[in-house]
Amino acid sequence: MVVTNTNQLGETIDSTYDRKAEKKAFDDSKAGVRGLVESGVTKIPRMFHAGKLDVIETSPSHTKLSIPIIDLKDIHSNPALHTQVMGKIRSACHEWGFFQVINHGIPISVLDELIDGIRRFHEQDAEVRKEFYTRDLKKKVLYYSNISLYSDQPVNWRDTFGFGVAPDPAKPEEIPSVCRDIVIEYSKKIRDLGFTMFELLSEALGLNPSYLKELNCAEGLFILGHYYPACPEPELTMGTTKHTDSNFMTLLLQDQLGGLQVLHQNQWVNVPPVHGALVVNIGDLLQLITNDKFVSVYHRVLSQNTGPRISVASFFVNSHDPVEGTSKVYGPIKELLSEENPPIYRDTTLKEFLAYYYAKGLDGNSSLDPFRV
Ligand code: OGA
Ligand code: NI
Repeated sequence: MVVTNTNQLGETIDSTYDRKAEKKAFDDSKAGVRGLVESGVTKIPRMFHAGKLDVIETSPSHTKLSIPIIDLKDIHSNPALHTQVMGKIRSACHEWGFFQVINHGIPISVLDELIDGIRRFHEQDAEVRKEFYTRDLKKKVLYYSNISLYSDQPVNWRDTFGFGVAPDPAKPEEIPSVCRDIVIEYSKKIRDLGFTMFELLSEALGLNPSYLKELNCAEGLFILGHYYPACPEPELTMGTTKHTDSNFMTLLLQDQLGGLQVLHQNQWVNVPPVHGALVVNIGDLLQLITNDKFVSVYHRVLSQNTGPRISVASFFVNSHDPVEGTSKVYGPIKELLSEENPPIYRDTTLKEFLAYYYAKGLDGNSSLDPFRV
């Protein structure tokens, strides 16, 4: 009699397969997924297999469902327009947790050059990029593939180059020369846009424009430049597994290849690339302090047989608060509470929240659950 056992992914269990060793060999190569592609793989290693991918999608051409695109042009000089845009931001953050902004003030040439710079980093000789490969999150410049490679999640078809911007920036000479100038220029501009966005989000909540900034939501900034190589078997693996962002807000720049999807009313909806736009994405901590007025939603990136796809995510978080560190307490904003709107969450510290988020991993469950009252 032959007994066939299957694991959670529905794969046949093969006692000769050593997943840990496969991951270790990949990690030791220090060349990322790009390195596998360079070596000419036509079958993806088993550690990338993700089981059933649930790729049913809603494409905006077949339905009216699409994340809002909000034009920021002239909002500071035209009060009527300002009010209108505030309404759009409020409903986008409440209903979608995602929107795209255009005319945000960062020149399109800067966005295009950053994508080129990130591509140049990932496409340098393996020998050169290896020098930056690390899993030490304390480093201010890092290159790695899959930050939680050794967890029991399927590995994603993606490599990442990351750098700290605030409050403790990477020194210019620490930034790889292939992209140094554009990384520095973009970092300044996206930080300023972050401040502007937090002002707009504060106002959309009916608060003083400086409210979220004073809570230090814009204090910390870390940028990740993702590289999703073309995948020979895209039906077997994900570019990025379904997750929410743990931070306050993310500003995402994506190139023209697409693949990013958000979960909206139980359907995966494509976020179509719009040249010159930036995607604004609400994180878990903003959902917590706004008491669900703004929501942090699941999103993911499909792998594709074309590529590479490049995206650059700027994470506004406050894990390095210069004064209070991670012991700063966050809870629902008092001004947003009333008898009809009692607090949904308890107070927590960043330390407690982030420890839970990272320990949990990308398991598809909300990291806010343990903080509900
Ligand atoms: C992320 C993320 C999406 C993308 O970095 O958290 O969701 O398009 N990135 O790369
Ligand atoms: Ni994300």
